[in-house]
Amino acid sequence: MPSALLDDLNEPQRQAVTHSGSPLLVVAGAGSGKTRVLTRRIAYLLAERNVATSEVLAITFTNKAANEMKERVAHIVGPMARTMWVSTFHSACVRILRNEAKRLNLKSSFTIYDTADSVRMLTLVSKDLGIDPKSYSPKYLLGQISSLKNELIDYEDAMNKAVTAQEQTVAQAYGEYQRRLMLASAVDFDDLIGHTVALLQSFPDVAAQYRRKFRQVLVDEYQDTNHAQYILIRELVGTDQDGMPPAELCVVGDADQSIYAFRGANIRNIVEFERDYPTAKTVVLEQNYRSTQNILTSANSVIEKNSGRPVKKLWTAEGSGEKIVIYTANDEHHEADFIVNNIADLIDNHGFEYKDVAIFYRTNNQSRSVEEVFIRRGLPYKVVGGTKFYERKEIKDALAYLRAVSNPEDDVSVRRILNTPRRGIGDKAEEAVAGFARREKITFSSALSRLSEIHTLPTRSATALNEFNRLLGNLRTLDESGAGPSSILAAAMETSGYLKELTASKDPQHEVRVENIAEL
Ligand SMILES: Nc1ncnc2c1ncn2[C@@H]1O[C@H](COP(=O)(O)OP(=O)(O)O)[C@@H](O)[C@H]1O
Ligand SMILES: [Mg+2]
Repeated sequence: MPSALLDDLNEPQRQAVTHSGSPLLVVAGAGSGKTRVLTRRIAYLLAERNVATSEVLAITFTNKAANEMKERVAHIVGPMARTMWVSTFHSACVRILRNEAKRLNLKSSFTIYDTADSVRMLTLVSKDLGIDPKSYSPKYLLGQISSLKNELIDYEDAMNKAVTAQEQTVAQAYGEYQRRLMLASAVDFDDLIGHTVALLQSFPDVAAQYRRKFRQVLVDEYQDTNHAQYILIRELVGTDQDGMPPAELCVVGDADQSIYAFRGANIRNIVEFERDYPTAKTVVLEQNYRSTQNILTSANSVIEKNSGRPVKKLWTAEGSGEKIVIYTANDEHHEADFIVNNIADLIDNHGFEYKDVAIFYRTNNQSRSVEEVFIRRGLPYKVVGGTKFYERKEIKDALAYLRAVSNPEDDVSVRRILNTPRRGIGDKAEEAVAGFARREKITFSSALSRLSEIHTLPTRSATALNEFNRLLGNLRTLDESGAGPSSILAAAMETSGYLKELTASKDPQHEVRVENIAEL
């Protein structure tokens, strides 16, 4: 068995898979088998070192990567691997926070706000605090708040440290934003990490429980961790002073590949791993399995110029391969023509098919000039990425219904569906309710249940709002009777008239939208 797990690894990979005890840093370039090492290491821990699946925590950067890793491990050690905690930082934190929500005064059914929700919330906050959106857009505020959270700076610290008017405004918005999130029993993406760190730091018994559980902690793409995630790992791993030995830690990463500096990723975490963990062992992987030598040599010569990075030089046994061609175009139209002419040549003269070709670009709007030429010449193409499923309007509307049902305090969701589909509740009526909520210091939803006290409401709006309350009330009753999310969703889409409005709409996308909801 050990041979089967180690056979197709090179020597440094083998060392990384079998290393035990002290913290392990695997530094390597792209395509050198980092993910293979991590997957194989998990399989080896389970098969050869008597580690139980429940003791493993493996962190990846995308859900897709997590699923792939799980499948790869399941392939080697069997289906029980599927119960293992292989997940992103965010999903792992959601699981921990749902279990321990009470300690942080959160409901275990807390809502998770995505960026768009947070921006909406900050728009409301700014309006109430009288912050001028032309000087400080909600997006800007969110970016600043997010950076503070990534550094684990809470709003009180931010307030105390604020010197410039700008910092003070950000800190003020941060405080009010956080207050409203708590009121709504909601958390944003950054809170998932920050709250979990706070939980582990404030409740030693909780920290001890998770440290006892996770004896093996593995992190892929370690170069992309920000400060909060770095501290989270340290808290989970623990130290010799915690009354039990620290967990075994293995991180893999490539300081030259960090793509999240704008999100606060800190290659310092990788560069200083050995200082953070003085007993650490480092393994360097330099053999590349993806590219030919010409590509690696030119990549090396670019990367060489980075400073403050561990030295490594990628090589391959694949041979030098074809030469790299660089073409400098006058503008994006010439560039697009060049690309399309090359593709035509590959297809006509070299036996390739359209699906063999990929085009990369740096920012989304750069796809446009190429797409235009494709359309003009009638070439088939597919844009990968684009608007993601969960960011589509109809999906967000449907989810807002579910959240409003399960968490009545979730103001952003309730307000999203207030007049979706249109039911005669205009901005004025919404503002009247919001104003009442502000004066009474209650949530928007609580204000909805006290409509008779809101004297500024016109009768027609009051009727529409009562109708809305009844709709939500019925859905909540359905929820309490134990109906699952899918039947609640179906009922919500039906009784709210959402589906009807879609079907009747002239929007050319409406069929796709109906299908998307069905897919959800
Ligand atoms: N020792 C090896 N022998 C053969 N192929 C390997 C070896 N190590 C890695 N590979 C292959 O190289 C490719 C890149 O591996 P991966 O683990 O995804 O690299 P990284 O995470 O470093 O980018 C994969 O197709 C993998 O199967
Ligand atoms: Mg990888």
